[in-house]
Formats: sequence, C-alpha cells, structure tokens
Amino acid sequence: MKASIIAIDGPAGAGKSTVAKFVAKRLNYVYIDTGAMYRAVAWAAQDKNISPANEDAMAELTRTLSIQLYYRDGQQRITVDGRDVSEEIRTPDISRIVSAVSAIPAVRNALLDLQRQMARAGGVVMDGRDIGTCVLPNADVKIFLIASIDERARRRCLELQEKGFVTDLEQLKQEIALRDKMDSERELAPLRQADDATLIDTSDMTIEQAVDAIITEHEKRYRP
Ligand code: CDP
Ligand code: CDP
Repeated sequence: MKASIIAIDGPAGAGKSTVAKFVAKRLNYVYIDTGAMYRAVAWAAQDKNISPANEDAMAELTRTLSIQLYYRDGQQRITVDGRDVSEEIRTPDISRIVSAVSAIPAVRNALLDLQRQMARAGGVVMDGRDIGTCVLPNADVKIFLIASIDERARRRCLELQEKGFVTDLEQLKQEIALRDKMDSERELAPLRQADDATLIDTSDMTIEQAVDAIITEHEKRYRP
C-alpha cells in the first residue's frame, strides 16, 4: 500500500503538533514538525547575536547551518550543527522572534527544500503554516486546524507553566495574536487555509476527538 502524506496547518496553539503526533502514531507514519525547524534557525540567530532584521546575515547563517530532525525514544529531537536544541527552541524568547525569522525568503527557501526531501517517501504527517499551500500542495489529506484565540492562549499558558515559565495570560494572548498576524500577512507562503483543506475547529474538542476527526478525513480522502 502506498503511504500517504497528511498536511496540517493552522495558527499557534491550535493543537497541530499534539494531534499530528497521535495521528502519525495511529498510522505508523513519521511526524515532521516544520515549526521546530524555523525555531532552530531563530535559536541560531539569537545564539550568534544576529538580528532577524539583517537579512544578508540571516541568509548567510541559514546557508551554513546544519539542521537535523531525528527520533530518540519515540520523541522528535532537533539539532543545530550537532547541538541538541529541542528544549531551548520552545522558550518565549524564541517565540517572540521566530515570525520575523520565518518571513525571510532565504530562510524559507532553504527549509522548503529540506522539508520536501523529508516527505518524499510518503508516510508522513507534516505540520506548519504553509504545508498544504506551498510545501506539499499535492498532499493526500490537508487539514486546517483552528481554535479561538482565548483557548489557544489558555493552552499555551498551561503548557509554559508546566515547563516552569512565569506567564501572563493577557500578554501571551497578545503575543500569539501578533505572531498569527505576522505569519498571515507575510509575502512569502503566508499562513492560510488551502482551497482543498478541511477546516477543523478544536476549541471544544479533546485531543482524542481532533485525532479521530483527522483519521476519519484520511479514510475518506485517501484511496491507496
Ligand atoms: O508551536 P507554535 O504554534 O507556537 O509554532 P511553531 O509551529 O513552532 O512555529 C513557529 C513559527 O515558525 C511560526 O509562528 C511561523 O512563524 C514559523 N513557521 C512557518 O513560517 N512555516 C511553517 N511551515 C512552520 C512554522
Ligand atoms: O502545534 P500547535 O501550536 O498548533 O499546538 P500544540 O503545541 O499541539 O498544542 C498546544 C497545547 O494545547 C498543548 O499543550 C496541547 O496538549 C493542548 N491541546 C489541548 O488542550 N486540546 C486540544 N484539542 C489540542 C491541544
């Protein structure tokens, strides 16, 4: 049976990565988190004191970086030039600069090639902002996952608190709204629902319900 490709896009905190991981597990597919790749570039820029506003330096940085995704004990890990940054890329500081980094054409083009290579063999669930529209326009199943801004901020707040960060719900809500705006309004591969994507609103759904909804969509759309 030919393995399919599932693309999941949507705004921050909609549940993409959580749900995508479970969908991949159910189908025995590989999960690919493209947001982690943009976060890795943002982390490298911060580490080297390069401002995202300096596009030439950012282009040079991206050209020389080696980003690798791999699995350890069932968990996806990410390295930058051999250093494991899986935890460091999730800090609020990185969240604040990542949208500026991901709007840079040289950064997007470099990661686009890498993402397409990773999906070549099929059997993948890939999540991000432009997977159904730009990275994998021929994906077998396309999902656009959303949730209300209040619910997304609440979820992200809980998650950060569990990791030990002190967070303010209102501030987090504003930061998420700003990131969504930047991601949706950038010129290259903005966040938007593909014409042939199925919209799923997870505001009142449990993780299991969202996973089931995607598996059902996969069964409907995918004819091996
Ligand atoms: O997990 P969260 O929703 O906070 O974000 P993420 O998926 O880790 O993505 C971080 C950032 O990377 C997004 O806000 C986008 O700026 C960028 N991104 C993108 O431009 N294109 C993608 N395919 C994935 C992420
Ligand atoms: O990847 P994305 O930014 O879209 O969201 P996520 O990181 O998968 O989910 C953000 C948080 O919401 C996680 O802590 C999930 O456990 C939680 N979540 C939830 O409570 N209910 C859902 N239906 C989906 C996610």
